Amino acid sequence: MHLFSNFERLKSCEFDRNPRVTQGAKLLSESQKLWGGRFTGATDAGFATYNRSFDFDRRLFDADVRGSLAHCEGLRAAGVLSDEDAATITRGLHAIRERASADSTFFNDQAAEDVHSFIEARLIETIGDAGRRLHTGRSRNDQVATALRLWLRDEIDHISESARAAERALLDVAEAHRAAVLPGYTHLQRAQPILWAHWCLAYFEMLARDRERLAEVRRRTNVMPLGSAALAGTSYPVDREGIARALQFEGVTRNSLDAVSDRDFCVEFAGAGSLIMAHLSRLAEDIIIYATTEFGFIELSDAVATGSSLMPQKKNPDAMELVRGKAGRVFGHTLGLLTTIKGLPLTYNKDMQEDKEAVFDVADTVRTSLDVTATVLRNMRLREERTRDAATRGYMNATELADYLARRGMPFREAHDAVGRIVLHAIGRGVELHELALNELRNFSPLIEEDVFDALSLERTLATKSQTGGTAPEQVTNALAAARASLDM
Ligand code: ARG
Repeated sequence: MHLFSNFERLKSCEFDRNPRVTQGAKLLSESQKLWGGRFTGATDAGFATYNRSFDFDRRLFDADVRGSLAHCEGLRAAGVLSDEDAATITRGLHAIRERASADSTFFNDQAAEDVHSFIEARLIETIGDAGRRLHTGRSRNDQVATALRLWLRDEIDHISESARAAERALLDVAEAHRAAVLPGYTHLQRAQPILWAHWCLAYFEMLARDRERLAEVRRRTNVMPLGSAALAGTSYPVDREGIARALQFEGVTRNSLDAVSDRDFCVEFAGAGSLIMAHLSRLAEDIIIYATTEFGFIELSDAVATGSSLMPQKKNPDAMELVRGKAGRVFGHTLGLLTTIKGLPLTYNKDMQEDKEAVFDVADTVRTSLDVTATVLRNMRLREERTRDAATRGYMNATELADYLARRGMPFREAHDAVGRIVLHAIGRGVELHELALNELRNFSPLIEEDVFDALSLERTLATKSQTGGTAPEQVTNALAAARASLDM
């Protein structure tokens, strides 16, 4: 009793005198609250700010309006909304959408809790009482899941287009230097010569897989949760399949509990985005290394390089460094999303509001990184003389010599050992293998004859890699054509 009266006193006096609470009431005006009925006190200002998602989830505005239009039509078709109310709501939603695109101050709303309450408040302001009927049979839980899926579906399409454009840029730079060769590396040590186009096609393959992965994620994203209501399903006789068709969803979710709490599609999207960034980051690293004075394989044009504020001579590959750096934040979001959903009890929990900034940032970062990478590819020059020179030095034809001996009957292990000793001898003399005299070579094996020089030539070295997937010019020509064709599919 004593405790209770203390609480009552606290509630009536101290809470009400708390200036933060008064501010909170202003921040979240009572008319905009979707859930004010059972509350008598105002929301704490600090908590109201903390609770708000409108500043970022307003990006879902258009998707949420689309969802609302379809929901409204679903309610009308089920006889839940009168034709007249449905027409009024539809007109109101269109009017709000027009205002949003015409009036840049439209979104300056310090009071809205989230995009869903914002739209509902604007709707009621615009059309009056009919607007209060739209939320029938719907919860923000199925609403937000629907809006986020609609938004992400479109975004995946944009990112796939950017990936396609980056793939096209790779093919274009490959074709611009059809005959160019460069050293291929393992352990960043010169290994075997390869065609420049073969290097381009390697990154093409990665991005092609990335686009496949995006298509998979899109398929699982493109399922409609609307009609799951808060968690248990809707009690109104709406035609969920019909609503899904209107929104171009491929189907409806099968379990309402799962539907409102599933964020797998966000994690999968961040995962697919992470692999894209890993691939772009590797490409960036190659270009950064190749653009050093030490390598000198690539020169970046002024359009994609930056200078130093102190050292006048510098030309820095910032574009590629940023792509490499931004991979980290995308990986971080993947882990962040996994951590957010881990251990959440069924079904919806407010933790899930944290999904949006992660998904938005993954989408923005992946898309812009793909675009910038394509721009860099189109704004760099391959220094073919230097890459060719590098491809003929560093004993990269040693394997050819071992294969030559093996073809003449020497067991490969023995040939490997003999060539190792020849390389050592050549290093001592400061020459390449093909610069040794025939009799010098024959000291190591009498199997070696005049035709060895042909076998050691750059042209032969490349031409022998003629199985599918190899760097032989004819293989690469075929691979380029197949890659080009796959882009048009
Ligand atoms: N802003 C919320 C979110 O992003 C919308 C859903 C809120 N639902 C609720 N029952 N509190 O998750």
